[in-house]
Amino acid sequence: MGKTITIAGQKGGTGKSVTAVNTAASFALFEKKTLLIDSDPQGCSTQWAGLSNKDYNCDLASVLSGRAKVVEAIVKTRLDYLDLMPAGFTLFKVALKLAKNPGNEKLLRLFLKDINDKYEYIIIDPPSSHSFLSVTAMAASDFLIVCMSLQHSCQEDFYGFLKMVKYIKENHNVPLKIAGLLFNGCRKKEDISSFLHEQNLSDIKEMVYNNFIPEDDSIKQSIGLNIPVALYDINSKSSTAYLNFAQELHFFFN
Ligand SMILES: Nc1ncnc2c1ncn2[C@@H]1O[C@H](COP(=O)(O)OP(=O)(O)O)[C@@H](O)[C@H]1O
Ligand SMILES: [Mg+2]
Repeated sequence: MGKTITIAGQKGGTGKSVTAVNTAASFALFEKKTLLIDSDPQGCSTQWAGLSNKDYNCDLASVLSGRAKVVEAIVKTRLDYLDLMPAGFTLFKVALKLAKNPGNEKLLRLFLKDINDKYEYIIIDPPSSHSFLSVTAMAASDFLIVCMSLQHSCQEDFYGFLKMVKYIKENHNVPLKIAGLLFNGCRKKEDISSFLHEQNLSDIKEMVYNNFIPEDDSIKQSIGLNIPVALYDINSKSSTAYLNFAQELHFFFN
């Protein structure tokens, strides 16, 4: 059974999409069969995988609206071990309709059962904020990786986020766990400890991954070229960080 992981985080711009794409690509480079699911109508992960809506007929919206089977909405990427379920603006419209019926947040979890044994990792890139689609992503997952940045997080946000996770676990009866916290865009590890101390969050230090993702222009360049950073420059500091992070996760999950 594959591990289904949502790259979560309350605010926009904390690096959820960067992390979803590059963690999924790193798993794929380690020859772990991986599916990246874009569950954000902005379609960042989809673009980053180098796809536009001309490249696919079905996407997550087609699956959630019952117009396609999960397997029909999976496309190959330029990495052999990485597949993608794309998303685009239609997902926004489908989500508005589905949100009217309580219980629809569990549709994705249900549909993913058909392909769970085909992948070692399923990584979901959700939209920011509390919405039908972010709850759908989390309710489909067994694990969350929380993306944090030194610029964005604060104690209130973090505890607010924990409340949402608790709500989803209880109301949707899913075994959701926070696997860990990943810091993005930092210069050095000591900055994380100082930040947690300043924000009165020292008690969550144990949940922070050993690896963190540095601020790196290679990330911006790779976004511009629609490729994971490892394909832009495998020796860049962020590529190394994501490869190390994928190894840390693999060790954690096995
Ligand atoms: N480690 C990093 N180094 C450099 N730029 C980064 C890094 N992480 C994120 N960014 C920048 O921040 C932007 C927002 O990141 P993104 O992953 O799209 O955030 P989210 O999905 O949480 O809204 C990216 O487009 C990129 O320009
Ligand atoms: Mg995003």
